Amino acid sequence: MNIQKLLLLILPALLTGSLSADPAESPRQKLLMDLGWRFHQGDPVDVGQTLDFLGKESDLMKQGEESEAKDTAIGKNLPDVVSENTGAGLAFVKPDFDDSAWRILNLPHDYAIEQSFGEKDNNGKGSRHLDAKDGSAIGWYRRTFELPSADQGKKITVQFDGAYRNSMVWFKGHCLGRKPSGYTSFVYDLTPYARFGEKNTLVVRTDASANEGWFYEGAGIYRHVWLQKTSPLHVAQWGTYVTSVLSGKDATVTVETTLENNGDKEASGILVTKILDATGNEVAKTAAPFQTASGQHLVVTQNLQVADPKLWSPESPTLYKTISRIETNGVVSDLYETPFGIRTVTFDPQKGFSLNGQHRFIKGVCNHQDFAGVGVAVPDSIEKDRVAIMREMGADGWRMSHNPPNPELLDECDRQGMMVMDETRRFGKYPEPLSDLETMIRRDRNHPSIVIWSLGNEEMKIQGTQTGADIIKVTQDLAHKLDRSRLCTIAQNHAEDKKGFVTVVDVVGMNYLGLWGSMDKFHAEHPERRFIGSEEASTVTTRGEYFDDYVKAYKSAYDTHANTPGWGASAEEWWRFYSQRPWVGGAFAWTGFDYRGEPTPYHWPNISSHFGIVDTCGFPKDSYYYYKSWWRPEPVLHLFPHWNWDRVEHRTINVKVSGNSEKAEVTFNGSRSKSKTKICPQGTEWPPFLYQPGKVTVKTYQGNTEVASKTITIDGTNTITVNLDPVLIKPVVPGSATAPQYDPTHPDSASVAATTTILPPKDSVTITVSEAPIDLWAESNCDEVELFVNGVSKGRVKVQSNSHAEWDHIPYVPGAIEAKGYKDGKLVLSEKIETTGEASQIRLKANRQELKGDGEETALIAVDSLDDKGRFVPTGANEISFSLKGSGKILGVGNGDPSSHESDQEPHRHLFNGKALVIVQSTGGAGTIELIASGQGLRPAVLSLPVKDAPRRPSVP
Ligand code: GAL
Repeated sequence: MNIQKLLLLILPALLTGSLSADPAESPRQKLLMDLGWRFHQGDPVDVGQTLDFLGKESDLMKQGEESEAKDTAIGKNLPDVVSENTGAGLAFVKPDFDDSAWRILNLPHDYAIEQSFGEKDNNGKGSRHLDAKDGSAIGWYRRTFELPSADQGKKITVQFDGAYRNSMVWFKGHCLGRKPSGYTSFVYDLTPYARFGEKNTLVVRTDASANEGWFYEGAGIYRHVWLQKTSPLHVAQWGTYVTSVLSGKDATVTVETTLENNGDKEASGILVTKILDATGNEVAKTAAPFQTASGQHLVVTQNLQVADPKLWSPESPTLYKTISRIETNGVVSDLYETPFGIRTVTFDPQKGFSLNGQHRFIKGVCNHQDFAGVGVAVPDSIEKDRVAIMREMGADGWRMSHNPPNPELLDECDRQGMMVMDETRRFGKYPEPLSDLETMIRRDRNHPSIVIWSLGNEEMKIQGTQTGADIIKVTQDLAHKLDRSRLCTIAQNHAEDKKGFVTVVDVVGMNYLGLWGSMDKFHAEHPERRFIGSEEASTVTTRGEYFDDYVKAYKSAYDTHANTPGWGASAEEWWRFYSQRPWVGGAFAWTGFDYRGEPTPYHWPNISSHFGIVDTCGFPKDSYYYYKSWWRPEPVLHLFPHWNWDRVEHRTINVKVSGNSEKAEVTFNGSRSKSKTKICPQGTEWPPFLYQPGKVTVKTYQGNTEVASKTITIDGTNTITVNLDPVLIKPVVPGSATAPQYDPTHPDSASVAATTTILPPKDSVTITVSEAPIDLWAESNCDEVELFVNGVSKGRVKVQSNSHAEWDHIPYVPGAIEAKGYKDGKLVLSEKIETTGEASQIRLKANRQELKGDGEETALIAVDSLDDKGRFVPTGANEISFSLKGSGKILGVGNGDPSSHESDQEPHRHLFNGKALVIVQSTGGAGTIELIASGQGLRPAVLSLPVKDAPRRPSVP
């Protein structure tokens, strides 16, 4: 019977649903393969040089055109690990290797957080010791499992959502491949080697010693692994592509389904595609006959009409799903689900961004992957919490900086209405980055949350060159070919050039080019170009700290320009700028969450950044309430700082540098809070920093040459003005024909240009140590806020739009401060902060009232110090120990202190400014979790969390 006849016969039955299949009939199984891996740290001796690809590819991660030529050459020189069956002889790889002494663990797993911190280790990556030579960067994983005889004849694949990095995988001793990227999902076909009714062993090695980024990247199999079983005729990996077009109130949904026929015969049948709405009701259905040759990938395109669909938006993130059913001779070969959403997205050069025809400005945050306690091995329920924390603040945009995320984070963005910029890690037009980009788009293109693709970030050397334009043409064309429904951007930190990326890219992405850069000028000169603020802010604040502290390496939590590293802006500065430019599509603050690595402006002892609006635990900093005030509609009032100043130091060291040199740098005991700062004619004052005994060193510069310096010992009482001592540079004779001669013993002498004229420096420094009066701020969207200190009004202040209320230099007298917020003359909110007693008890508060006993769900438990009267003690610093009984475990701990070198995994942690976090996870089965927290001098706290019976996800036994 030919296909048309067959269709005529069965179509009526199909469309009335009488042939609808039970999912249990489908051979497809997707089993979580997270449980029960064996893990070993470091290489055995027999590895030798066999798996050392890094020497050969160390240039791979360099940016720019330079690396491209090298990369292609390196690509040619690298062995084909599969055809050479690399590593097959190694003991660890052999199926019969005895791994019973190896540690048993569940994925996701990040062994970087298990390593020690070291001052000499890469501070940008979080100062964890990760070295291939001593084994700390190397992880070996083995998993033995049985494939039942009933699976004979099926296609068996293993899917890794991501492993950091340079992973190699062997199955039954055969090398399946190597994946350099730590961020790209990858899939291997196990079918040719699989033995049914027998044990099979999968072996994975990861090597985290090389960098892909300049931030903490983790180590190991830090995302889920899946074992997939399908019939030979099935929907291909990431094999559906769902798009929709709205006309009037109705939508035409186009579903392109790639059928893969791995059978040894031609196959024919029917592809039935249904659309279900969010409540599971069928709203559209169609069927198409198909015929595929053996080994073929066949794309079947079907159009379905959905009447009056509910559109996806941040406020109403409605999801639909398609069910693709392949039937051959009345037998179901596959059932495959694709969640999707119906919405329209436009970026316009003049009107900016619109969703579903409505203009809106994307209020975005950039984020890296890691979280307190778990590193990059973030459980799905914490991804849910991370998105919720940002949505509660009012953010509706999330930039996956600077790499594709795990799929579960995208699922949460779909469900919670977060619009996403999905970003690939490596930029280039050679095979590896192109295939990473292709995987990202194929994997992610059905997520309604994704509104734009990002093809890269700050490709410094080539963003303004013809080479850059050539490369982005190739990558953007590939993105368009794979997804015709979205535009692309690339994040640039230099876009003045009228050549390079800007001439090609769909939407010009600008990093920090709003306030201090060329965005306005560029928009005026190129009214045809679309824009997005791909990165802004980089405001550095430390939760609960109100003075810069050079020793502990903290920045004050006040949202001021002094808290930015040159290129950045305070929250208020950048948001005010963008709120007046609706032609920009949106902007993304660097960053929503603090992340490990890239400490700025300090280095060690800092091991994590404090760019976040919330800390690594998700605890809000004060500026969280600035964003909440202006990104959410409801009234917000947040008063700070605390009022416990008799408990903590609030004397400050104030430094003012004057003179004729260009720039000065101030360090305290060797640690600096800012890079070189310009000296202005009236002298330049540094943000006051916390008093502690030590040495202030001031150095002044002309060009890059240090010209004078002075070190002053601070004893706590002094006010002093002293001249800086000129450093030994032989004077330049202006107009002299011979090149100036500098003191050869001076370290900078070689780098000084021959034409530079060094003037004799006349620089001085004034240092004062004084008790700091306290500035009080309220982040609020009320019309007016009135402050009371110990019952006395300090004034009612009008709050300008996108601003805050401030009362400066308030002397500290213990008691209470109170803010009252008014809208339309009526009191709508008030907040009172009292001087508390010493910390005497602990409060535990979970973000979930019960846990699912599925062995995966987590609760974030905030640990707070309280005084006798039950008031939060914002200065609490006690060490808290945790123990747990019942059906759960402690997964990790944290406190948001960017300089803490405590373990993320051991069951104890000091409070940082009154707070710490414990993450608990259910271990499977119903019951109760009892968490006990205790600390010296504190009344212990007990938290009981019911655990409800919930099945584990289908898993590999
Ligand atoms: C940007 C960069 C980010 C981060 C940030 C810190 O230039 O894109 O990855 O490094 O600076 O301010």
